[in-house]
Amino acid sequence: MRKLTSFIGLVTAPVVALVLLAAPAAMSASSTDGPNMAADGKALFLANKCDACHSVTAKSVECAKPAHFEKDLSAVTDDAAFVKKFLKKEVTKKETKDGVDKEVKHKKMWSGSEEDLDAILAWLGIK
Ligand code: HEC
Repeated sequence: MRKLTSFIGLVTAPVVALVLLAAPAAMSASSTDGPNMAADGKALFLANKCDACHSVTAKSVECAKPAHFEKDLSAVTDDAAFVKKFLKKEVTKKETKDGVDKEVKHKKMWSGSEEDLDAILAWLGIK
């Protein structure tokens, strides 16, 4: 009986080790693939503190500091190519305030990766 239990231990230990090693690899692979891009976009939006100035009411995200700037991003009409340049402060955007046209720069410069920015914009539904 003693021999049998040590034999089982010998066989199962490597199997358990393999499963433990393989699980994180499988999880990280799926989180970067297509279907989870949207979920990542929300996490990245919050991690980059975009919610300090923005709500996204269509996605039930509230602005963390409503008294700050609060601009809702539920229905951005500009396309992704423009928005990416705008967030990197490479272009300005025309805005009309109190009847006066102004060229504004985004308040915060994007300094993260291209992939993260793509994931945020995909989550916001900006194409
Ligand atoms: C300090 C405040 C502030 C922060 C932080 C901020 N924004 Fe903005 N954002 C604004 C304001 C204000 C506008 C409206 C345009 C303007 O006046 O600059 C805007 C506009 C936008 C637009 C609309 C662009 C368009 O073409 O209509 C998008 C998209 C956007 N922000 C995304 C983001 C993302 C993503 C983050 C986080 C990485 C972020 N913002 C962080 C203040 C902020």
